[in-house]
Amino acid sequence: MKRIIELTEDGSHTLYLPELDEHFHSVHGAVQESMHVFINNGVNRCQQTEIHLLEVGFGTGLNALLTLLHRKEKVIHYYSLEKYPLTEEEFCQLNYAQNYSSETQALFLLMHKSRWEQQIEITPGFELTKLNCDLRTFDLSDLPAFDLVYFDAFAPGKQADMWTDAIFQKISRQCKPGAIITTYCAKGDIRRLLQKNGFAMQRLPGPPGKREMLYGEKDH
Ligand SMILES: C[S@@+](CC[C@H](N)C(=O)[O-])C[C@H]1O[C@@H](n2cnc3c(N)ncnc32)[C@H](O)[C@@H]1O
Repeated sequence: MKRIIELTEDGSHTLYLPELDEHFHSVHGAVQESMHVFINNGVNRCQQTEIHLLEVGFGTGLNALLTLLHRKEKVIHYYSLEKYPLTEEEFCQLNYAQNYSSETQALFLLMHKSRWEQQIEITPGFELTKLNCDLRTFDLSDLPAFDLVYFDAFAPGKQADMWTDAIFQKISRQCKPGAIITTYCAKGDIRRLLQKNGFAMQRLPGPPGKREMLYGEKDH
Protein backbone atom coordinates (compact mmCIF):
# COMPACT_ATOMS: atom_id res chain seq x y z
CA MET A 1 0.00 0.00 0.00
CA LYS A 2 1.44 3.35 -1.04
CA ARG A 3 1.71 5.92 1.78
CA ILE A 4 2.84 9.52 1.36
CA ILE A 5 4.23 11.67 4.20
CA GLU A 6 2.54 15.08 4.38
CA LEU A 7 2.70 18.08 6.72
CA THR A 8 -0.43 19.03 8.67
CA GLU A 9 -1.35 22.59 9.71
CA ASP A 10 0.42 22.38 13.10
CA GLY A 11 3.68 21.41 11.38
CA SER A 12 3.53 17.73 12.36
CA HIS A 13 3.55 14.91 9.85
CA THR A 14 0.79 12.58 8.81
CA LEU A 15 0.53 9.83 6.20
CA TYR A 16 -1.80 9.94 3.22
CA LEU A 17 -3.11 6.73 1.70
CA PRO A 18 -4.05 7.40 -1.95
CA GLU A 19 -5.78 4.01 -2.29
CA LEU A 20 -8.35 4.95 0.38
CA ASP A 21 -8.04 8.73 -0.11
CA GLU A 22 -7.54 8.90 3.65
CA HIS A 23 -5.11 10.59 6.07
CA PHE A 24 -3.86 8.98 9.28
CA HIS A 25 -4.65 12.17 11.22
CA SER A 26 -6.53 15.45 10.95
CA VAL A 27 -4.97 17.66 8.28
CA HIS A 28 -5.56 20.56 10.73
CA GLY A 29 -2.83 19.15 12.97
CA ALA A 30 -1.80 15.58 13.75
CA VAL A 31 -0.20 16.30 17.13
CA GLN A 32 -3.01 18.70 18.11
CA GLU A 33 -5.61 16.05 17.31
CA SER A 34 -3.78 13.25 19.11
CA MET A 35 -3.21 15.46 22.19
CA HIS A 36 -6.88 16.42 22.34
CA VAL A 37 -8.55 13.07 21.60
CA PHE A 38 -6.18 10.54 23.14
CA ILE A 39 -4.11 12.37 25.75
CA ASN A 40 -6.39 15.06 27.23
CA ASN A 41 -9.60 13.02 26.79
CA GLY A 42 -7.92 9.65 27.23
CA VAL A 43 -4.95 8.91 29.45
CA ASN A 44 -5.30 12.18 31.41
CA ARG A 45 -8.90 11.30 32.37
CA CYS A 46 -7.95 7.85 33.63
CA GLN A 47 -7.80 7.83 37.44
CA GLN A 48 -5.76 4.64 37.80
CA THR A 49 -2.03 4.83 38.46
CA GLU A 50 -1.47 1.64 36.43
CA ILE A 51 -3.25 1.48 33.08
CA HIS A 52 -3.77 -1.31 30.57
CA LEU A 53 -4.33 0.47 27.30
CA LEU A 54 -5.52 -0.90 23.94
CA GLU A 55 -4.83 1.06 20.76
CA VAL A 56 -6.46 0.21 17.45
CA GLY A 57 -3.88 1.14 14.80
CA PHE A 58 -0.25 1.69 15.91
CA GLY A 59 0.52 3.41 12.58
CA THR A 60 3.01 6.24 13.02
CA GLY A 61 3.40 5.61 16.76
CA LEU A 62 2.30 9.19 17.50
CA ASN A 63 -0.26 8.23 20.17
CA ALA A 64 2.24 5.92 21.85
CA LEU A 65 4.93 8.62 21.93
CA LEU A 66 2.57 11.28 23.33
CA THR A 67 1.25 8.82 25.93
CA LEU A 68 4.80 8.08 27.05
CA LEU A 69 5.57 11.81 27.30
CA HIS A 70 2.35 12.84 29.10
CA ARG A 71 1.62 9.88 31.37
CA LYS A 72 2.53 11.77 34.55
CA GLU A 73 4.07 8.94 36.59
CA LYS A 74 1.32 6.50 35.56
CA VAL A 75 2.51 3.00 34.72
CA ILE A 76 1.33 2.13 31.20
CA HIS A 77 0.97 -1.29 29.61
CA TYR A 78 0.38 -0.25 26.00
CA TYR A 79 -1.06 -2.85 23.61
CA SER A 80 -1.30 -1.72 20.01
CA LEU A 81 -2.77 -3.60 17.05
CA GLU A 82 -1.53 -2.91 13.53
CA LYS A 83 -2.20 -4.78 10.30
CA TYR A 84 0.14 -2.79 8.04
CA PRO A 85 3.29 -1.72 9.98
CA LEU A 86 5.28 1.22 8.67
CA THR A 87 8.63 0.52 7.02
CA GLU A 88 11.84 1.77 8.62
CA GLU A 89 12.21 4.25 5.76
CA GLU A 90 8.80 5.71 6.68
CA PHE A 91 9.11 5.91 10.48
CA CYS A 92 12.62 7.37 10.30
CA GLN A 93 11.27 10.40 8.40
CA LEU A 94 8.51 11.28 10.89
CA ASN A 95 9.10 14.57 12.71
CA TYR A 96 7.17 13.85 15.95
CA ALA A 97 10.22 13.56 18.20
CA GLN A 98 12.44 16.09 16.48
CA ASN A 99 11.85 18.96 18.95
CA TYR A 100 12.51 16.72 21.94
CA SER A 101 15.75 15.52 23.51
CA SER A 102 17.92 12.93 21.79
CA GLU A 103 16.78 10.51 24.51
CA THR A 104 13.13 10.95 23.47
CA GLN A 105 14.08 10.59 19.81
CA ALA A 106 15.77 7.31 20.69
CA LEU A 107 12.68 6.11 22.59
CA PHE A 108 10.48 6.86 19.56
CA LEU A 109 12.76 4.81 17.32
CA LEU A 110 12.88 2.04 19.91
CA MET A 111 9.07 1.86 19.86
CA HIS A 112 9.12 1.34 16.11
CA LYS A 113 12.08 -1.02 16.03
CA SER A 114 11.02 -3.17 18.97
CA ARG A 115 9.85 -6.65 18.09
CA TRP A 116 6.24 -7.43 17.37
CA GLU A 117 4.22 -9.82 19.57
CA GLN A 118 6.54 -9.16 22.54
CA GLN A 119 6.24 -7.10 25.69
CA ILE A 120 9.07 -4.56 25.61
CA GLU A 121 9.98 -2.10 28.36
CA ILE A 122 10.58 1.13 26.42
CA THR A 123 11.41 3.02 29.61
CA PRO A 124 10.65 2.24 33.27
CA GLY A 125 6.87 2.53 33.67
CA PHE A 126 6.08 2.22 29.97
CA GLU A 127 5.75 -1.23 28.42
CA LEU A 128 4.81 -1.67 24.76
CA THR A 129 3.29 -4.75 23.11
CA LYS A 130 2.79 -4.32 19.37
CA LEU A 131 0.64 -6.95 17.72
CA ASN A 132 0.83 -7.38 13.96
CA CYS A 133 -2.72 -8.55 13.39
CA ASP A 134 -6.11 -7.75 11.93
CA LEU A 135 -8.53 -6.41 14.53
CA ARG A 136 -11.45 -7.98 12.65
CA THR A 137 -10.23 -11.52 13.28
CA PHE A 138 -7.94 -11.09 16.31
CA ASP A 139 -9.02 -12.75 19.58
CA LEU A 140 -8.76 -9.97 22.17
CA SER A 141 -9.62 -12.32 25.02
CA ASP A 142 -5.97 -13.44 25.19
CA LEU A 143 -5.04 -9.91 26.33
CA PRO A 144 -5.47 -8.44 29.82
CA ALA A 145 -8.60 -6.44 30.68
CA PHE A 146 -8.31 -2.81 29.60
CA ASP A 147 -8.77 0.50 31.43
CA LEU A 148 -8.49 2.66 28.31
CA VAL A 149 -9.08 2.21 24.56
CA TYR A 150 -7.74 4.51 21.83
CA PHE A 151 -9.99 3.71 18.86
CA ASP A 152 -7.96 5.18 15.99
CA ALA A 153 -9.04 3.21 12.91
CA PHE A 154 -9.54 4.84 9.51
CA ALA A 155 -12.86 6.67 9.26
CA PRO A 156 -16.06 4.58 9.08
CA GLY A 157 -16.76 5.98 5.61
CA LYS A 158 -13.45 4.50 4.40
CA GLN A 159 -13.20 1.30 6.42
CA ALA A 160 -16.72 0.43 7.63
CA ASP A 161 -15.75 -3.09 8.70
CA MET A 162 -13.60 -1.71 11.56
CA TRP A 163 -16.60 0.03 13.18
CA THR A 164 -19.06 -2.85 13.54
CA ASP A 165 -21.25 -4.18 16.32
CA ALA A 166 -19.09 -7.36 16.49
CA ILE A 167 -15.87 -5.36 16.93
CA PHE A 168 -17.29 -3.09 19.63
CA GLN A 169 -18.74 -6.13 21.37
CA LYS A 170 -15.37 -7.86 21.58
CA ILE A 171 -13.66 -4.65 22.72
CA SER A 172 -16.33 -4.01 25.35
CA ARG A 173 -16.01 -7.56 26.71
CA GLN A 174 -12.29 -6.95 27.23
CA CYS A 175 -12.83 -3.67 29.09
CA LYS A 176 -13.03 -3.27 32.87
CA PRO A 177 -16.08 -1.53 34.35
CA GLY A 178 -15.45 2.22 34.10
CA ALA A 179 -12.95 1.80 31.24
CA ILE A 180 -12.67 4.77 28.89
CA ILE A 181 -12.99 4.61 25.09
CA THR A 182 -12.06 7.63 23.04
CA THR A 183 -12.13 8.31 19.28
CA TYR A 184 -11.90 11.25 16.92
CA CYS A 185 -15.08 10.04 15.19
CA ALA A 186 -18.33 11.82 16.11
CA LYS A 187 -20.88 9.93 14.03
CA GLY A 188 -24.28 9.22 15.57
CA ASP A 189 -24.43 5.61 14.40
CA ILE A 190 -21.01 4.88 15.98
CA ARG A 191 -22.12 6.54 19.20
CA ARG A 192 -25.24 4.32 19.22
CA LEU A 193 -23.24 1.14 18.50
CA LEU A 194 -20.87 1.88 21.39
CA GLN A 195 -23.82 2.68 23.64
CA LYS A 196 -25.44 -0.63 22.67
CA ASN A 197 -22.23 -2.39 23.68
CA GLY A 198 -22.17 -1.04 27.20
CA PHE A 199 -20.49 2.37 27.00
CA ALA A 200 -22.12 5.53 28.37
CA MET A 201 -21.24 7.87 25.53
CA GLN A 202 -20.75 11.63 25.37
CA ARG A 203 -20.07 13.99 22.51
CA LEU A 204 -17.18 16.29 23.43
CA PRO A 205 -15.80 19.29 21.54
CA GLY A 206 -13.38 18.08 18.88
CA PRO A 207 -9.78 19.13 18.25
CA PRO A 208 -9.10 22.31 16.21
CA GLY A 209 -10.88 22.03 12.84
CA LYS A 210 -13.35 19.34 14.01
CA ARG A 211 -16.59 20.10 15.78
CA GLU A 212 -16.99 16.99 17.94
CA MET A 213 -15.50 13.67 19.04
CA LEU A 214 -16.79 10.68 21.03
CA TYR A 215 -15.87 9.71 24.59
CA GLY A 216 -17.37 6.84 26.58
CA GLU A 217 -17.14 5.01 29.89
CA LYS A 218 -17.99 1.33 30.25
CA ASP A 219 -21.01 0.70 32.44
CA HIS A 220 -20.40 -0.76 35.90
C1 LIG B 1 -6.12 6.42 11.31
S1 LIG B 1 -4.63 5.43 11.22
C2 LIG B 1 -4.00 5.83 12.84
C3 LIG B 1 -2.78 5.12 13.24
C4 LIG B 1 -2.03 5.60 14.47
N1 LIG B 1 -2.83 5.60 15.69
C5 LIG B 1 -1.32 6.89 14.25
O1 LIG B 1 -1.53 7.85 15.01
O2 LIG B 1 -0.53 6.95 13.32
C6 LIG B 1 -5.36 3.80 11.29
C7 LIG B 1 -4.38 2.65 11.46
O3 LIG B 1 -5.10 1.40 11.50
C8 LIG B 1 -4.36 0.42 10.78
N2 LIG B 1 -5.28 -0.64 10.33
C9 LIG B 1 -6.03 -0.65 9.21
N3 LIG B 1 -6.77 -1.78 9.14
C10 LIG B 1 -6.48 -2.50 10.25
C11 LIG B 1 -6.92 -3.77 10.74
N4 LIG B 1 -7.82 -4.48 10.06
N5 LIG B 1 -6.43 -4.22 11.91
C12 LIG B 1 -5.50 -3.48 12.60
N6 LIG B 1 -5.05 -2.27 12.17
C13 LIG B 1 -5.53 -1.79 11.02
C14 LIG B 1 -3.77 1.22 9.64
O4 LIG B 1 -2.69 0.56 9.02
C15 LIG B 1 -3.37 2.50 10.34
O5 LIG B 1 -2.08 2.42 10.88
